[in-house]
Amino acid sequence: MALTISILFGSVRDGRLGIRYAKYLEAAVKARGHTAVLIDPLEFDLPLLRKRFSDYAPGQTPPENVAKLHKILLDSDAFILVSAEYNHAPAPAMLNLLDHFKSEYESKPSAIACYSYGPFGGVRAAMTLRAVMGELGASSIPRLLPCPAVHEAFDGNGLPKDESAWKKRSDDFLGQLEWYANALKGARAKN
Ligand SMILES: Cc1cc2nc3c(=O)[nH]c(=O)nc-3n(C[C@H](O)[C@H](O)[C@H](O)COP(=O)(O)O)c2cc1C
Repeated sequence: MALTISILFGSVRDGRLGIRYAKYLEAAVKARGHTAVLIDPLEFDLPLLRKRFSDYAPGQTPPENVAKLHKILLDSDAFILVSAEYNHAPAPAMLNLLDHFKSEYESKPSAIACYSYGPFGGVRAAMTLRAVMGELGASSIPRLLPCPAVHEAFDGNGLPKDESAWKKRSDDFLGQLEWYANALKGARAKN
């Protein structure tokens, strides 16, 4: 079944490298017949959290960019988090993006594609994100997709150096996410 999958990217850093990995995953999701929505916190220019979307009282108007994101997340069937590791933790732009919302994630799966410049692929940040996504009601699938040396793995357009290896890895990862997304979509439809 065709799904709508949001790809949440978590860096606003000058010269950020992970955007190439996010672009690769956006293309990989589309190639499997789904709608992919890449959420770039730089483009949305999200403020540091002062108020969650749900904390706006009736009649109060949330900022336009926050309202737009709310709708994108609400309409999504699954989430892919593309996150760097900063000081053994998820990058703050990722946590800030996540924290603006809550019910929008509920009863949908997430999948974590972590990365780093170094050899470990950001897996320590992924472990924290697993706990965060569980709390948000969007538990992560068992598979992770870590990318070490992200600067070497993809060019600036998101094209992988080793295309066949990445196709196999991303197909395994996305295939598992689709299974959970379809199962939970069916369950949500019954409620
Ligand atoms: C504040 C900061 C902390 C970092 N801490 C880690 C770390 O704990 N582990 C790691 O593997 N890389 C770490 N790095 C290196 C990042 O993996 C690398 O800069 C990566 O490109 C960050 O993603 P981005 O370019 O998309 O922002 C750190 C980088 C920054 C800027």
